[in-house]
Amino acid sequence: MEHELSLETLLQHLGEETPFPYGAVTPPIVQTTLFTAPSLRLRTEQKGLNDAGYVYTRESNPTVRLAEQKLAALEGTEDALCFASGMAAIASAILAFTRTGDHVICVESAYPPTRMLLESWLARYGVQVSFIEGKCTEEFERALQPNTRMIYLESPSSMVFHLQDLRAVSELARARGILTLCDNSWATPIFQNPYALGVDLVLHSASKYLGGHSDLLAGVVAGRREHIEQVRETRSLLGGVLEPFGGWLLVRGLRTLPVRMERAHASGLQVAEWLAAQPPIARVNHPGLPSHPQHALARQQMRGYGSLFSFETRPITAENAYAFADRLRLFRFGCSWGGYESLLLGWAQGESEPAPWLFRIYIGLENPSDLIRDLQDALPALTP
Ligand SMILES: Cc1ncc(COP(=O)(O)O)c(C=O)c1O
Repeated sequence: MEHELSLETLLQHLGEETPFPYGAVTPPIVQTTLFTAPSLRLRTEQKGLNDAGYVYTRESNPTVRLAEQKLAALEGTEDALCFASGMAAIASAILAFTRTGDHVICVESAYPPTRMLLESWLARYGVQVSFIEGKCTEEFERALQPNTRMIYLESPSSMVFHLQDLRAVSELARARGILTLCDNSWATPIFQNPYALGVDLVLHSASKYLGGHSDLLAGVVAGRREHIEQVRETRSLLGGVLEPFGGWLLVRGLRTLPVRMERAHASGLQVAEWLAAQPPIARVNHPGLPSHPQHALARQQMRGYGSLFSFETRPITAENAYAFADRLRLFRFGCSWGGYESLLLGWAQGESEPAPWLFRIYIGLENPSDLIRDLQDALPALTP
């Protein structure tokens, strides 16, 4: 290639150099569990199994492999693996590298099932975990133990959108032979590449932006070949592999990822800035706002922002909160994010009433002016 291709172009062409059968522009869904050899001799001697060496889809499959090649290119890693869900990816990566007696440091605002896996499930196998806020690197240093084996990061983290200094924490870990993992679902490889900042393994729930249409459950682990081989073995044993149709949906989602993220960045910021100026709103937690305490770090380690964030109200009653939600016409109420549709969730931040509420909001691909008008119509309900 005479000149370096841009990411958007590379994304479409990588792994597609040989035309698909019939000149099709989308990849074939190789919907098979089994790949056979032309003779028993070749099968037994493990030679000439078939051109690409595929054996069984739990190990590898051409449709899924195409998604993996593109994901490795996007994250700038040597290789990547796809899983049946984000949690299958996270669990396989953690289990591949922890042993009885190990200690793990994890950010306390990590995705709650990740926390639960480390806290309740791995404890059964004698793995200890320390949860820290993780906003400053010294906290990681203080939490280190002689048996610390892994540091688990999620930047920005779920619900509160705290950041960790990925470069500084990775340096600290690498100097001590500690493995670093980072959930990059929020920023996506379009806006943040933890591997380039020194993180060993990059994790994704591809059920969010990467798939992009709320119709795919998938996960990704990306990193150095040597690490990926260890995770591949764990994936094969635990069986949480992505199936071929999921691989195809993921490739389809990746084709539009850069344009969707450009829109997510702009719309998310527009709504966040508007919300921050509304009297019933006490605070907006969005790393792209200058008011975010880690905005400088966000600008340093990210090139743009996802459109999932949270905001806190002044003290209100549950009736205020539900009336606000009932007035919204363009938002739905549900826990995932990263698809077309805008979403909202909310929780009281105290037992007694009135109490401040924390709302998590996801700005989808609708016109942001329509979303702002919808919020504007509903906002009076938040004034007690
Ligand atoms: C930040 C984050 N990581 C991981 C996951 C888990 O992904 P999945 O639902 O695909 O298992 C989620 C899902 O909501 C998430 O929000």
